[in-house]
Amino acid sequence: MTDKYAVIGNPIGHSKSPIIHQAFAKQTGEDISYEAILAPLDGFESTVRELIAHGYKGANVTVPFKFEAYQLCDSLSARVVSSGAGAVNTLVNTHGNLHGDNTDGIGLRNDIEKNLGFDITNKHVLILGAGGAAHGVLNSLLCASSITIANRTHEKALDLVMGIKDCEVNASTYDSLEKSYDLIINATSTGLTDTVLPIPSSVFAPGCLAYDMMYGRETPFMKQAREAGAQVADGLGMLVEQAAEAFYIWRGVRPLTQPVIAQLRNA
Ligand code: ATR
Repeated sequence: MTDKYAVIGNPIGHSKSPIIHQAFAKQTGEDISYEAILAPLDGFESTVRELIAHGYKGANVTVPFKFEAYQLCDSLSARVVSSGAGAVNTLVNTHGNLHGDNTDGIGLRNDIEKNLGFDITNKHVLILGAGGAAHGVLNSLLCASSITIANRTHEKALDLVMGIKDCEVNASTYDSLEKSYDLIINATSTGLTDTVLPIPSSVFAPGCLAYDMMYGRETPFMKQAREAGAQVADGLGMLVEQAAEAFYIWRGVRPLTQPVIAQLRNA
């Protein structure tokens, strides 16, 4: 029998998750269906309960429901607990018991290390932004030599670095950035509005990888990085990698991601 999965969000029409998971299913021979479901802003829980009642085996959760999903879970993966972000993007339904995981961090790391061939270990990393996106991936970057988190609202960057022990972390504002970094990740939502971040181009060290978690078009951050001579990447690979990790959690099978990334780029 076909096992049912879905992605839940609002809005959801733009989601590439159905294409990605259908491609994984075809590639691995797994008998699954996967659809996009629009939940009302005040109806996430009832949507999830309905899916459970209809026998769905799992779901991905996207904006704005990742925090509500965390609250709904009966159990949580170790990486969700240790991240402290309070956000879940993958639900597993085992006979009505809801288990929550978050594959965003490992998705980012796999894209940077496996697909882009950039080793994060011992590098100096700058994260731009201190909202949910930054919090969700911070734990996966702790192998770096240092991490600086720069944010418009300094207090939020300070909150984020508090309690991190495994790596040297600092909070900063944009205008006090003076050093250069090997890896710079844009985790702000400024790409949505084409807002230019007030960062100096001297932050891009020679050989720097500039990674924007957004995808679809060149953001002002990516443009600045390209003009400064950095290697530039968007977040499409992260999207596919976080999906692959969710697929693995559900099915125990690891799909190949490169052909699916290429398929989406060519579409
Ligand atoms: P997400 O889940 O996408 O991270 P979020 O939690 O609302 O969304 O965080 C948005 C991030 O983008 C924050 O770091 C925010 O900075 P503030 O914490 O100072 O709000 C950043 N951001 C959004 N608009 C911005 C702008 N115009 N200039 C600079 N930073 C901006």
